[in-house]
Amino acid sequence: KTERLVEILSGQPVIPVLKIDRIADAVPLARALVRGGLKAIEITLRTPDALDAIRQVADEVPEAIVGAGTILSQKDFAGAEAAGARFIVSPGATRALLDAASRSGVPFLPGAVTPSEIMALRDEGYEVLKFFPAEQSGGTAFLRSLASPLAGMRFCPTSGISQKNAADYLALPNVICVGGSWVAPDAELASGNWAAVEELARQAASLARG
Ligand code: 3PG
Repeated sequence: KTERLVEILSGQPVIPVLKIDRIADAVPLARALVRGGLKAIEITLRTPDALDAIRQVADEVPEAIVGAGTILSQKDFAGAEAAGARFIVSPGATRALLDAASRSGVPFLPGAVTPSEIMALRDEGYEVLKFFPAEQSGGTAFLRSLASPLAGMRFCPTSGISQKNAADYLALPNVICVGGSWVAPDAELASGNWAAVEELARQAASLARG
């Protein structure tokens, strides 16, 4: 499972973090992101239609690797798995989620910030974590300071990241990819401007890694 997660996350510099308000947007949005070069996408369970959106993308956009985000409970985990999510992301980690993940074949990306949180997940066998909320928790300076003491742990920082500062994160040795919603702005979704989303994805996909 770790290998599969590493393969997904190392396949592109940016994982789009999506909040889908209109179910009709799910498939065209996923297609635009894939055309722009971002195949792996995270649909967050922050809207009522999120599980349906995951299901539709899984069924209708086979080129995409659809994941589920904002997973807070075992119920969320089970729903995401049943909808066809190929990876599952949480802003944190609870015993209940770690138990669900250990019973599941779907790779899990739990969130952590502090050294103790990271060490607890390391003890559970995790090598790749979401670092959330990235900018608010100390950003690149904080992450850089974890690289030596917590060698071997890699992170997908998320929150407050955009085309402007993504490269700074990607230059760090312990960053596998970054996550962000900037490639799918509300305004472009509202107007169905899929060409604009595709272009934002293309720029994100071309970001260099350190
Ligand atoms: C997440 O859930 O990973 C973040 O809320 C996305 O953060 P952003 O909107 O600042 O990119």
